[in-house]
Amino acid sequence: MEIRVASGPAAEVEADALIVPAFEGQTPQGIGAAWLKDLYAAEEFNGKSLETALHHGPEGAKAKRLLAVGVGKPADFKPAVLRRAVGAAVRKLKGKGVHHAAVLLEGAAAGDDFAAAAVEGALLGDFEPDQYKTDAEKKSKPVDSLTVCGGLAAAVEHGRIVGEAQNFARALANEPPNLLTPTTLAAHARAMAETSGLECEVLDQDRMRQLGMGALLGVAQGSAEPPALIILRYKPEGAAADSAHLGLVGKAVTFDTGGISIKPSDGMEKMKYDMAGGAAMIGAMRAIAALKPPVAVTALIPSVENMPGSRAQRPGDIVTALSGKTVEVINTDAEGRMILADAIAYAERIGCTHLVDAATLTGAIVVALGHVRIGAFVNDEPFWARLEAAATAQGERMWRMPLDDDYLEALKNPYADLQNVGGRAGGAITAAMFIRQFVTKAAWVHLDIAGTAWNDDAKPDMSKGPTGVCVRTLTSLAMNWKA
Ligand code: BES
Ligand code: MN
Ligand code: ZN
Repeated sequence: MEIRVASGPAAEVEADALIVPAFEGQTPQGIGAAWLKDLYAAEEFNGKSLETALHHGPEGAKAKRLLAVGVGKPADFKPAVLRRAVGAAVRKLKGKGVHHAAVLLEGAAAGDDFAAAAVEGALLGDFEPDQYKTDAEKKSKPVDSLTVCGGLAAAVEHGRIVGEAQNFARALANEPPNLLTPTTLAAHARAMAETSGLECEVLDQDRMRQLGMGALLGVAQGSAEPPALIILRYKPEGAAADSAHLGLVGKAVTFDTGGISIKPSDGMEKMKYDMAGGAAMIGAMRAIAALKPPVAVTALIPSVENMPGSRAQRPGDIVTALSGKTVEVINTDAEGRMILADAIAYAERIGCTHLVDAATLTGAIVVALGHVRIGAFVNDEPFWARLEAAATAQGERMWRMPLDDDYLEALKNPYADLQNVGGRAGGAITAAMFIRQFVTKAAWVHLDIAGTAWNDDAKPDMSKGPTGVCVRTLTSLAMNWKA
């Protein structure tokens, strides 16, 4: 979708449809006001969030249609509300074959944050995971361009960068597991780094053996596909805000069969999105490269395929992680924490002072929080406060989970320092507790995105499939970095 900024008044913009945000319980003003007043009076449209109404041949505007989209009550209006509304509007329009849309941002919807959010919403709504459909008739027909009426060019550009980065992450998460392996994921990351001006390094199996990444290599050994540890580096120009070094660690299991502790076949195809945490970090780095925050950021993406091949690790195997800790593998399906353990230890070794990991880590977080909120586990209050503020501003909902030392009991093992599972009780928490054992000094937040990285059904503002969750929050965290 091409993004433009209107040069003249909204009434003069020649679009197939002009999107007009409309509030609940407030008399409409400006373009389309007369039509909207009638709709409100007839109670056909109330301005409730994500409600839409379409009007052909409006008076006083050159656009062929007006699409009113509800943004709820004025008191609750925020960029996050507008983002979803514009997403829903674009999805309505693309179903009707509209190719050139415009959006009217004035009054309460004026300002940089609203302009950026509107553009993000439009891009997110336009995305469809139908890359591999070959019948043009059955493919979605995207809205080709969006003209923003009101809003500064810089804010619109910011929104475009973030929205495209999130869609980039979504496209990666949607790739089928035969085509997206650790090797091809690394190639995608490298290509992105080259066009974005980031440094990219990929640690291969030999290097990981030299380093002693036994936890990651144990998972990888059941697959014919070699593992990769993808590293993307961004360094700010000039002086950084402080000597902090942000590390973004993303789980990228390109397919999770469960290994020898194999998963049931029903729904197993969805385990292609077990690399969504890694995809989010690659997407965030794409935005960070373009927006240039004042802090050094390194993404570390451990990538493996979890397969039950003849060389696969067994329950009962004891591996030595990079940190030196030994782990008895009780369940080979608890593989995400194993690869994160080594990536986090390596992140600290290369100097990261602040770490965020994102991982489709546990089914237990889906039981606890459903598909609405990300589970957040933290070891540092000030860092969490900053991340939570970024998430709230970006409309990515998170929920703080507990991490008392007592949960460590469940990971005690008679033969090794740790075991990789802690039983059914508090499964998302014991998984987080496992990862915590590999953080020695960094401020750290673990985000369990198993419930939020994939939409099982289409939403008004977003397609079915990969959500690209975390890209906006992590980009915003880096952008607002202060010493
Ligand atoms: N990738 C899964 C977690 C998952 C489940 C992601 C559902 C998305 C949707 C993870 O590797 C896994 O298998 N976790 C196990 C852990 C268990 C063996 C302790 C789980 O949640 O069942
Ligand atoms: Mn698993
Ligand atoms: Zn997994």
